[in-house]
Amino acid sequence: MNEFKKHVVDIQNEAFALLAKVKTEADLNEIEIRFLGRKSEFNALLKSLKDLSPEERQTVGPLVNVVKQEMIKAFEEAQQKMKLDSIDWEKERLDVTAPGVKLPEGHLHILTQVQREIEDIFTSMGFDIAQGPEIETEFYNFDALNVPEHHPARDMQDTFWIKSKEGQERLLLRTHTSAAQVRYMQTHTPPFRLMVPGRVFRNEATDTTHEHTFSQFEVLMVSEDANVGNLKYVAQEFFSRFFKTEVKIRLRPSYFPFTEPSFEFDISCMSCGGETGCSACRNNGWLELGGAGMVNQNVFVNAGYERNRYQGLAWGLGIERLATMKYNIPDVRLFHSGDTRFLSQF
Ligand code: FA5
Repeated sequence: MNEFKKHVVDIQNEAFALLAKVKTEADLNEIEIRFLGRKSEFNALLKSLKDLSPEERQTVGPLVNVVKQEMIKAFEEAQQKMKLDSIDWEKERLDVTAPGVKLPEGHLHILTQVQREIEDIFTSMGFDIAQGPEIETEFYNFDALNVPEHHPARDMQDTFWIKSKEGQERLLLRTHTSAAQVRYMQTHTPPFRLMVPGRVFRNEATDTTHEHTFSQFEVLMVSEDANVGNLKYVAQEFFSRFFKTEVKIRLRPSYFPFTEPSFEFDISCMSCGGETGCSACRNNGWLELGGAGMVNQNVFVNAGYERNRYQGLAWGLGIERLATMKYNIPDVRLFHSGDTRFLSQF
């Protein structure tokens, strides 16, 4: 009986002595198999418990169990110690005083920034900001704006048509934000001041100043007595705020079916002030910006207003054009290039 106990304790001591010295994982596994494995001496002792008398078993049994648990614990601790010993603490050291790694931060696309800036200026001048659909009907994009089918004016804006079923209204990708004019007028009664920003599409070849997908913003002011002077004033105010310098406006006669009279309008060059001429304005003193005019009465009639009851002024400008001027961007195609070297500059 005492011999049995001594045997158990001897095995434990031997295992503990080996564990204290073990260096490699392979040795550790070997010791585990030798002392706790199925064919180990210790396991044989456990099996032989059944040959003892019940009284003997009662005194020896708990001892064997305690020794088994202690050996298991000792193996686990040795394993844990081996794991910790293998760590290179110098490498793992955390310097809590080191500066953090700056994560790359996203930001709004330059066109979104410019569009929001334009919206803010118009909002502060009491304008409503509205939206129109990018997929538009032929009616709102052309017919309602006094651009009938087969009229040469349609060719001014090459169009992406959308296949539509027989008998259904023809759909297209809107070619200008002017398409939102009649939509808005149908649900609003003058007087109102409106600005509509958004993407427009044209089926044309691209170059440094032309894209197939670009943005415009439409300005529309309608009241009983709106006049060209209001147009000039609002434009001058807007451009001076946008370019953060005093600019002058110049109107030249032009043609758009939806305005009468129609103008192209230019602003004085921001680089030379329009006085001397410089490379930015090709020595001209003026920069061409876009189209404008007094709303053609036919457009009012198409919107359901009485002819000659109201006067309106409208203009439509490219947002890319303004952004390229403000930030000296040489090619309009950069905006949608997805090139982060370009985009991250703004
Ligand atoms: C129009 O689109 C008229 N709807 C503007 C208008 C509105 C006139 C209200 C009168 C009253 P236009 O096709 O010229 O006009 O385009 C206006 C501006 O959009 C141009 O001055 C230019 O800045 C920009 N634009 C036109 N085509 C492109 C293009 N392919 N790529 C980039 N910008 C363009």
